Amino acid sequence: MSTNDNNSNAYSDFHLQFIGGEWQKGKDDSINTNTNPYNGDMLGEIQQATKDQLNEAYDAASQAQAEWAKTTPAERAAIMYKVVSILDQRQDEIVDWLIKESGSTRIKAMVEFSSARAITLEAASFPNRVHGEIRPSNTPGKENFIYREPIGVVAVISPWNFPLHLTQRSIAPALALGNAVVLKPASDTPVTGGLLLAKVFEEAGLPKGLLNVVVGSGSEIGDAIVEHKAPSLVSFTGSTSVGKHIGELANGGEYIKQVALELGGNSPFVVLKDADIEQAVKAAAFGKFLHQGQICIAINRVIVEDEIYDDFVERFLAHVKTLNVGDPNKQDTAVGPIINEKQVKSLKEKIAKAQEEGAKMILSGEIKGQVVPPHIFTEVTREMDLSCNEVFGPLVGIIRAKDEDDALSIANDSMYGLSSAVFTADMQKGLRFARGIRAGMTHINDISVNDESNTPFGGEKNSGIGRFNGEWVLEEFTRTHWISMQNEPRQYPF
Ligand code: TAP
Repeated sequence: MSTNDNNSNAYSDFHLQFIGGEWQKGKDDSINTNTNPYNGDMLGEIQQATKDQLNEAYDAASQAQAEWAKTTPAERAAIMYKVVSILDQRQDEIVDWLIKESGSTRIKAMVEFSSARAITLEAASFPNRVHGEIRPSNTPGKENFIYREPIGVVAVISPWNFPLHLTQRSIAPALALGNAVVLKPASDTPVTGGLLLAKVFEEAGLPKGLLNVVVGSGSEIGDAIVEHKAPSLVSFTGSTSVGKHIGELANGGEYIKQVALELGGNSPFVVLKDADIEQAVKAAAFGKFLHQGQICIAINRVIVEDEIYDDFVERFLAHVKTLNVGDPNKQDTAVGPIINEKQVKSLKEKIAKAQEEGAKMILSGEIKGQVVPPHIFTEVTREMDLSCNEVFGPLVGIIRAKDEDDALSIANDSMYGLSSAVFTADMQKGLRFARGIRAGMTHINDISVNDESNTPFGGEKNSGIGRFNGEWVLEEFTRTHWISMQNEPRQYPF
């Protein structure tokens, strides 16, 4: 429950950068104009950061990190608990920002807020969970210690779709584990993807310099963020094309660094003939249209066994027709606006292409401004654009599978491997099917959109490298250091 009803207490000054613990003006000539994707309202203007300011941020992070790494686990955990408490107090303010800046419906904003809160709470446990090992040695008199240390400075580049959560999913574990962060939020969501979290961590008492938020365009300062010598790890969430570029820069430049890449997806949602069709229909609608389908783990392909295909399509169409489309601020809106005009244009092209390729459009609607209503296509084949590529919008193709084997073959026929789902009444069959899917995550009798702070989140193939959450992120955001101790003089051959 939010207790922050006092607007005068609301955070302000979102036209500034947060570098070295100070709020300062960007020094670049370019301006980020922050607008509401539903009604075009101007939310603010931010003078963008220069490369010199980026260097300043990295200097501050490097300096602050050295001291932060010496703090006790309890001190770092206390900051995370304080952040959770501030998030709770400011829930209404944060949800309001998510609606107006990222076009989140109220339902999605609450889902996102809860996920960001959950990973912060999980991160509060990380300082005390990180641990080393002692391993036996084959050398007489030697002891082997394996230490887990902070990785140092972490560069975080985050996207606009779940800006608060996908940013916090990197920065909370990074900070809890003794690292410092330089964050570049997406240009569409500088507040919810960065500046708002900087305010929260500042209020929580995080020492200056540990979290820096640099607002600038990815095409202008993106390479410099990755190539800088300070970060030992680049945690990137976004498109596969930019992710590949970052991977190349991080491993082919002057300074080699680790990368955690959470990229695009093409999640199959498979409905086998013995499934509870009504439940599968509701799941398909929520897993496809939540946040207008702009989620890397959103359902991208619905694959239905032949025997129940027509029945599923009829019921799915009837259900999707009942969804409210429009103002994201209204309590019962299911489908709100698309983030920007570029994405709307790409969706219009996809609608045209699907028809050209022979898919049957059984539901469409007028595109008003940036609001694209649900579009449903049937008789979609695995070769069509709707099947092969990430849609990132409220369009869905339904593919007919001959049988279970065919459904599995279609599900695996993708260059992506992030999330997936299968519906069946037979749990053994569901488990067998799930284990046959080449992906980082598969959910039986649920949607592909799932993220829990204590389970591994991440993908295979072109969906990325690395895992978030729980023990998996502990490894990702720390470094391993083998230290041996020779307790008696060793006999060398010469
Ligand atoms: P991207 O272009 O990948 O943007 C993600 C982040 O990378 C943003 O902060 C962006 O900054 C930054 N960036 C862009 N170019 C960069 C560069 N050369 N070096 C370093 N950072 C750079 O994604 P998008 O344009 O927002 O969306 C395009 C597509 O990406 C979507 O259609 C969708 O398929 C996919 N997408 C996937 C996800 C997830 S969670 N997997 C999330 C969002 C989008 P700017 O905003 O300043 O450009």
